[in-house]
Amino acid sequence: MASGESIWKVLVFVVIVTYVCYITEISNFYPDWNFATNLRPSFIDKIASVVRAEDSREEIEMTAASGELSNKERLELIYKELPEGREKSKRYFSLPLTTTWSGGGVGNQLFEVFALLGLSNSSHRTPLVFQKNGSVLGKMLARIRLHFPALIEQITLVSNPAILENTTDVALHRKGCCRYWPIDELLEKNTSAVVSGRGIYFQSHLYWIHIRPSLLKWMTPSEFAANETKYAFRERDLVEGQVLCVHARRGNFLHTRQAASEANFTQSATKYIIKKYLKKKPGPITVLLFSNDLSWMRETYSEIYRNKNDNESFVQVGNVLYILVDNLSAFNTLIVAKDYCDNFLITAAASTYAYMMSFLAKNGRAKVFYAEHFATPYNTLPRHFNPKEFHLPHWIPLRLLDNLDITQISRDEIQPWATTSRPTTKKANG
Ligand SMILES: *[C@@H]1O[C@H](CO)[C@@H](O)[C@H](O)[C@H]1NC(C)=O
Ligand SMILES: *[C@@H]1O[C@H](CO)[C@@H](O)[C@H](O)[C@H]1NC(C)=O
Ligand SMILES: *[C@@H]1O[C@H](CO)[C@@H](O)[C@H](O)[C@H]1NC(C)=O
Ligand SMILES: *[C@@H]1O[C@H](CO)[C@@H](O)[C@H](O)[C@H]1NC(C)=O
Ligand SMILES: *[C@@H]1O[C@H](CO)[C@@H](O)[C@H](O)[C@H]1NC(C)=O
Ligand SMILES: *[C@@H]1O[C@H](CO)[C@@H](O)[C@H](O)[C@H]1NC(C)=O
Ligand SMILES: *[C@@H]1O[C@H](CO)[C@@H](O)[C@H](O)[C@H]1NC(C)=O
Ligand SMILES: *[C@@H]1O[C@H](CO)[C@@H](O)[C@H](O)[C@H]1NC(C)=O
Repeated sequence: MASGESIWKVLVFVVIVTYVCYITEISNFYPDWNFATNLRPSFIDKIASVVRAEDSREEIEMTAASGELSNKERLELIYKELPEGREKSKRYFSLPLTTTWSGGGVGNQLFEVFALLGLSNSSHRTPLVFQKNGSVLGKMLARIRLHFPALIEQITLVSNPAILENTTDVALHRKGCCRYWPIDELLEKNTSAVVSGRGIYFQSHLYWIHIRPSLLKWMTPSEFAANETKYAFRERDLVEGQVLCVHARRGNFLHTRQAASEANFTQSATKYIIKKYLKKKPGPITVLLFSNDLSWMRETYSEIYRNKNDNESFVQVGNVLYILVDNLSAFNTLIVAKDYCDNFLITAAASTYAYMMSFLAKNGRAKVFYAEHFATPYNTLPRHFNPKEFHLPHWIPLRLLDNLDITQISRDEIQPWATTSRPTTKKANG
């Protein structure tokens, strides 16, 4: 009997996990993802709590990067009770923050939080998030709050589902991951106490650019996070002069519709920025190299690292010091970008993580460059992704020419993928 019951539990779990994977996958492929737009926060929480009960330990390990705090102390900070409350007189705007439970990384999560804050501001409402006590969403918000407290303190967190009664729903996810959906409807339907915007990703600056200065201020790290970053960023004393940060994204980007970083672009663009911008001024230059695949990064910069012992992470070439940055958590890396990166090169154009590093770089004052091509060839991403709605307007797109020179282009000239002609053997939806 008991084993029959366990089999049922396993079956139900597998079905739910498959379902979550399926809808996450669907969101990548269909511009009108009706399922996502119809998800109610309470339903999301139901799925999430089942799935996450299984992997909450792993989640914690993700945060347990280096630091002076023991795991136990970190856990206590993460699980600290979140403030709650809803005032009757206030009007609220809510988003389900779907990428949190569907497995999105820090970049995806911050995009949704930024959209929540931007849309709330535009609709003259208070940002509200429904999270059951102890839910994944609550933990994720707590984890962001541990590093960037002011950002999360803008949000009213509630755990009583009754709050969702009489909510007006507005579908906002109608053009894919990275396109803006106008919010007139949201502004018009503003008589109810709670308006809930349904959808996922919200990866467009148009949702929040009007509050960019506030977002930058709210992304001030906590004392804990600043300490932790200082401790973990062991190479910090080597950093001198003007700093160029390069981010490369490989890994899962090799299997998705987003273009992964290319070695030829990364090499040429780094040289181009150093020559055109940094060498104009005298004094030392530091290049900080960030990637989720450091051995690929080392290979890409083999011209620089070729004579070095494999274990060496930094190399001096003339007045330029190259440092491969290792051993930093996702949050610590954002803080390093905020403090150090005067210039930023995004080599995987659609990486939301590189985006958030660049957004923060030098408190928003960095010169930011990004690779032209954002999609892998012949897929549908270009329908969901308009560089003008994604990248900040003052960031500079760079094109790699056939002779491997780099040239700056305007946003209107951006081509989604390197080759424009379609091969006859491949299907369009790769
Ligand atoms: C990562 O950082 C921690 C603490 O700073 C240190 O103990 C550990 O040795 C580092 N790991 C590597 C691979 O450098
Ligand atoms: C919207 O943001 C602006 C600029 O940050 C701020 O002055 C204003 O008070 C905000 N409005 C609301 C309703 O939050
Ligand atoms: C939330 O859950 C924790 C741990 O289960 C518990 O200690 C705490 O009292 C709960 N808080 C509320 C407001 O229910
Ligand atoms: C929802 O509307 C009903 C009827 O107008 C009202 O009695 C109830 O208090 C409302 N619920 C909330 C949470 O505002
Ligand atoms: C309702 O929306 C209109 C714009 O459509 C705006 O002028 C007004 O301030 C909003 N009122 C409230 C209470 O949110
Ligand atoms: C941060 O570091 C300073 C100096 O080492 C220390 O006094 C302070 O207590 C630390 N704060 C936190 C929150 O860890
Ligand atoms: C370099 O790393 C390898 C393993 O990754 C280790 O066996 C070797 O001792 C290291 N060499 C130096 C000089 O640290
Ligand atoms: C850069 O590298 C990619 C991948 O290897 C290749 O498809 C592309 O043609 C190269 N671009 C140039 C200009 O050589």
